[in-house]
Amino acid sequence: MEKQNMVYSQPMMPVREAERFVQTDSAPVTCLGMSFPNDEERRKYFLQRLREGLKELREKLSVPFVSMEDTYQRLKSLEHWPLGSDEQILELAQRIAHAASTMRGKNVDILRLYKDEVGFPHGSDEDILALSDPPYYTACPNPFLEDFIRHYGKPYDPATDNYRREPFASDTGAGKTHPIYTAHSYHSKIPHLAIMPCILHYTEPGDIVLDGFSGSGMTGVAAQLCGQPEPEFKANLEAEWEKAGHPPPKWGARRAILIDLSPVANFIAYNLNVDVSAREFKKAVDAFFKKIEAELGWMYETLHTDGRRKGRINYVVWSEVFTCPNCAGDVVFMDQAYNPKTGKFAKEFECPHCRAVLTTQSCEHKFTTYFDKAIGETVRKVTYVPVEIEYTLPGDKTKYRKKPDEHDLALIHRLANEQPKDWFPTAKLPIGKMRDSNHLAERGITHYHQFYLPRALHALSTMWRIAGEWTDARVRGFLKFMVEQCFWGLTLMNRYQSIQFGKIGGSQVNRFQPGVFYIPQASTETSPWYILDGKYKRLQKILTARQLPTSRQVAISTASSLQLPIPDNSIDYIYTDPPFGDAIKYGDLNLLIEAWHNLFSRLENEVLWDELKNKPLSVYADMMRRAFAECYRILKPGRWMTVVFHNSKNLVWTAIQEAIGNAGFVIADVRTLDRGQGSFNQVTAAGAVKQDLIISAYKPTSEFEERFKLEAGTEKGVWDFVRSHLKQLPVFVSKGERAEVIAERQNYLLFDRMVAFHVQRGVTVPLSAAEFYAGLAQRFPERDGMYFLPDQVVEYDRKRMNVREVVQLQIYVTDEASAIQWLKQQLLKKPQTFQEIHPQFMKAIAGWQKHEKPLELRELLEENFLCYDGKGPIPAQIVSWMKQSSNLREIINEEVEKGKAEIAASGALNTTNAELIEKAKNRWYVPDPNKASDLEKIREKALLKEFQRYVEEIASTHRRLKVFRIEAIRAGFRKAWQEKDYNLIVTVAQRIPENVLQEDQQLLMWYDHALTRLGK
Ligand SMILES: C[S@@+](CC[C@H](N)C(=O)[O-])C[C@H]1O[C@@H](n2cnc3c(N)ncnc32)[C@H](O)[C@@H]1O
Repeated sequence: MEKQNMVYSQPMMPVREAERFVQTDSAPVTCLGMSFPNDEERRKYFLQRLREGLKELREKLSVPFVSMEDTYQRLKSLEHWPLGSDEQILELAQRIAHAASTMRGKNVDILRLYKDEVGFPHGSDEDILALSDPPYYTACPNPFLEDFIRHYGKPYDPATDNYRREPFASDTGAGKTHPIYTAHSYHSKIPHLAIMPCILHYTEPGDIVLDGFSGSGMTGVAAQLCGQPEPEFKANLEAEWEKAGHPPPKWGARRAILIDLSPVANFIAYNLNVDVSAREFKKAVDAFFKKIEAELGWMYETLHTDGRRKGRINYVVWSEVFTCPNCAGDVVFMDQAYNPKTGKFAKEFECPHCRAVLTTQSCEHKFTTYFDKAIGETVRKVTYVPVEIEYTLPGDKTKYRKKPDEHDLALIHRLANEQPKDWFPTAKLPIGKMRDSNHLAERGITHYHQFYLPRALHALSTMWRIAGEWTDARVRGFLKFMVEQCFWGLTLMNRYQSIQFGKIGGSQVNRFQPGVFYIPQASTETSPWYILDGKYKRLQKILTARQLPTSRQVAISTASSLQLPIPDNSIDYIYTDPPFGDAIKYGDLNLLIEAWHNLFSRLENEVLWDELKNKPLSVYADMMRRAFAECYRILKPGRWMTVVFHNSKNLVWTAIQEAIGNAGFVIADVRTLDRGQGSFNQVTAAGAVKQDLIISAYKPTSEFEERFKLEAGTEKGVWDFVRSHLKQLPVFVSKGERAEVIAERQNYLLFDRMVAFHVQRGVTVPLSAAEFYAGLAQRFPERDGMYFLPDQVVEYDRKRMNVREVVQLQIYVTDEASAIQWLKQQLLKKPQTFQEIHPQFMKAIAGWQKHEKPLELRELLEENFLCYDGKGPIPAQIVSWMKQSSNLREIINEEVEKGKAEIAASGALNTTNAELIEKAKNRWYVPDPNKASDLEKIREKALLKEFQRYVEEIASTHRRLKVFRIEAIRAGFRKAWQEKDYNLIVTVAQRIPENVLQEDQQLLMWYDHALTRLGK
């Protein structure tokens, strides 16, 4: 969708010069390989195609559902509306048939069922067409996605494909002050500057990047801006990569497909992804302000205290009026609780009538009953009164304040009694099914227009009409994007914030509480100019500095990403930030803005954990699974997906990881950013971290998957997996002078990944942990507790020589498995006696989980480590530690020189020197891999015995297990899976606490797959 005959300047050019190069609609453009005389013609052409597509959907699908076969044929017959391959159409028809079967008796038409499935927004075709700018953005599923891929995609050919990358993570918070980031708010945004390094690392210029939960479209901005980086960002990134030893970034725009369920999230994405002429926008805004001055200016006039001059209102502070529970008198909250000298609100305040001490909790709402003409109903609403006005006089920057006088009150009264002459949304809120809706309903807000005070509603409806009248469609979109900033800011939700940055005063623009529908007791009604002046300047600055992407190689689709009309193996990279459980209700929060566009997200398919909407965690997990399965299908083999996860609850984290693995991906790296240090930490236990997690997962190559099918369940398959997995992992990670242990290269994580890979493909795991560890040590070189491929170890050794030390991962001890890793880390650093390690161990286990059986340190040591009892040679591990002391090193060297001691090939020291033996005696150390495997065998037996005890306990008592060794359950499940005893897995899983099962990725994986095997 490139533009022709346009010369684009370097970004950050001075305004006037940049404007000379600005695109005008009269320049010819090419789009998806087609040429048009100008952009307006391009828009007309694609809008017409979209119109035909919508018409065809209505004509062919607006019939009652009769059968799956009929649905399939109808879907297949669509000519203007591509739905993917035959297989996908069949699957869609099956889903529709299934949905129809759950609505038995109801006469539902196929179109409605189809729309539910694909996330087609609720609204009229005309409203969809009005908002869309195809093929870049459609306010419904984008029918041009197939064309986009056909035109821009590079087909995947396993025979010639030689793509290879290591996992990579970048700071998810970087760039939060960039003007593009602050141009428009959206819940939990990832700045484009944080995404760009990932895209540059994983892709080549021209590649296609997909984000299936794209929200405000930052992934698209990032992808396209790789072709027009700002000079400072470019220089910094190049320097950073050079320092880290990475090859330099390959600059050049990438293409983006952005999918989100919400038409208004996508409208933000559209406005930030598709450039606009700064000059044309200025023209439109000048005209807009002129018109609103004429139509609305009088509503915001107030008389100065001199009784002569007229000022322009900046804002009016409104206060809730309570009823005193003691005397039933009116209590104006601001009058009683607010101290204008300090700017603070008192928690306790007095009733002005009876002097009773009150709090906001103890007071009752005072309701006003009125006839709401917009809906033709008598309603009651919490009472607010204006208490203060801030205004300015023409030609004077002073901010004056006054109490509303009779003119102000008369104006307010008049506006309350007049209906706005322009359209505004009057639809009903989904009370009971929507976040905070009870809080709203209690206050008398049950319809969208009731969020607004009368003057604000007059102003907004007029501004919305005026913005919509601008003839140039692209500029009109951007103008609406600007006016949208008022939809939340002009509601009663705009809190009066008297103190900002520790001082009285400050801007009252957009002071609503983010992420909730909260109506405060003191609210600010701002004027349109007060909100929009600053907003306009900021938007105009972005445009004149040419900061928005100009490549126009983006396709934004308003649809559910659980069902994508995108061909298999066609996407080069996925960067996504999915909804994380129940933390933010995107769908609900988008409703208010959607109401103004008269287009609503179809929330049936919203990926969310929300009991109000009958979506328990299991439904969320299932939807995530479907979404990642689609990602897996469309991603080219061997390519990567980055998933950003805002850590909320362990349960959600487990569900996401499970969904990623279940889809077929292999997780190769999980990191979190340490903002204090500006560095990344690998994550070994999710619950312990509160920041964003960055998960890097890859789709195994098709060549490997094919081979694995033949080898599945054999030892060969296991080692083939390990080889292929090691190939994807970073070889050497350093921070300055220090190298980092790469968690994924440690034996226990390799074992977990291998097991998951088998279970997720429904294959038995042919090796026990002990056999795996022994085999790993035999086949792969080990360094610093990590395993490598032979060519990787050469690189590791070479780089290792240039750093001072290898830093260990931070391990949070919460259970047996993490305790073993923690002990291993301690004993690798220094072999220790029981007395030495015991006090540290007691501190480390402070976070031990309730359900996890407490284990004695001695038991853990005996099951997993070795102790030198003073007999025979001193083990190599202890010797190398002793050699770090100059004193002991001298004694060892002397003994060896005198021929009294001997160092064996293994590094063990054969000596009779009492001092050396005494020093080494009773020290616990980490066994070498062969001995570790022997120990593991014994441990596994013990774990299985313990598991057997649980099985017997369950059989005899039928009660839930309360405290147990999760390691024993994992071992038991592993064996049961091997023996295809799926019933046993399900029975035991159902007898352990639900939260434990849901939070343990391994147990959950076995349980889910066992259920599938049993056909449940
Ligand atoms: C965490 S937000 C993404 C925010 C985004 N990274 C940004 O910078 O603005 C998750 C998004 O997923 C969307 N979503 C939820 N369910 C979806 C589905 N089934 N298909 C597509 N999008 C969905 C929500 O509307 C929301 O915008």
